[in-house]
Amino acid sequence: MSKHETPLKHLAIIMDGNGRWANARGLKRTKGHEKGAEVIREITTYCAAHPTIESATFYAFSTENWKRPKMEVEFLMKMLDKHLKNELSTYQENGIRFLAIGDLDAFSKPLRERIRKTEELTKENSKLTQILALNYGGRAEITMAVNKLLAEGKREVTQHDISGALQTPYRDIDLLIRTSGEQRLSNFLLWQLSYSELAFTETLWPDFTTQELEEIIYDYQHRTRRFGGVK
Ligand code: IPE
Ligand code: IPE
Ligand code: MG
Repeated sequence: MSKHETPLKHLAIIMDGNGRWANARGLKRTKGHEKGAEVIREITTYCAAHPTIESATFYAFSTENWKRPKMEVEFLMKMLDKHLKNELSTYQENGIRFLAIGDLDAFSKPLRERIRKTEELTKENSKLTQILALNYGGRAEITMAVNKLLAEGKREVTQHDISGALQTPYRDIDLLIRTSGEQRLSNFLLWQLSYSELAFTETLWPDFTTQELEEIIYDYQHRTRRFGGVK
C-alpha cells in the first residue's frame, strides 16, 4: 500500500443473495446458504493475509431473520454449528480469532457452547478477527449498550461511553460491502457505520470472489475520507 492510499482496517459485509442464487438454479434456498458458507471461508482467509485488515464482520443472521420459515431458520442454526466445527482448522492455520456479536441467548445451549468454545480456542490468534453477527440487530446492540451503562450506575452517557459499551468496543467500520444489489443497511452496525464508506455490488453472495473484493478494496483505497473536514 502506498502512503497515499486510505488504509482499510475494519471491513463489514452484508452477505445477501443466497436464496436468489439458489432459486436461479432451481435449487432450494438452503443450497444457497451452503455455498455462501464456503464463500465466508475464502473471504476470511483473504482478509487474514491482507496487510492492513484487522477485522472483518459478517452479517450472518439478523434479529429480523426469525421471520423466515421455521425450516430455513433451523437449517441455518445447524449449518452454523457445523461451520464453526469445520472452520476451527481454518482459524488456527490462518491466525484468525473468532468472535460473535448479537443476542446469543436465543440460541440452543449446544450452539452457544460451540460459539463460546470457538472464541476461547482462537483468542490468541492475531492476524484477523472474524466477527460473525448472529441474531444481531444494530438497534438492539445500542439499546443493550445503554442498559449496560445504566446498570453500571451512569445517569448520563457520552458517545465515548456508548462506543465502549458495544459488543466490539470502538470498532468503527471503514468499509461496508453489501452484495445482491440491495442498497440498505437492514439494521446492521448502525452505530459503527456512521462514517463508513459504502460499496454495493449486484453479485449474489455465493458468487462473490476474492478478485471482486480486491477491486472494491482498490476503489476504497482511492477514495478521500473527509469526516466532515477539508482535504
Ligand atoms: C443472505 O441471503 C443470508 C441470510 C440472510 C441468512 P438471503 O437468504 O437473504 O438471500 P436472498 O436475499 O433471499 O436472495
Ligand atoms: C440482511 O439480509 C441480513 C443478513 C445478511 C444476515 P436480509 O436478506 O435479511 O435483509 P432484507 O430483508 O433484504 O432487508
Ligand atoms: Mg436477503
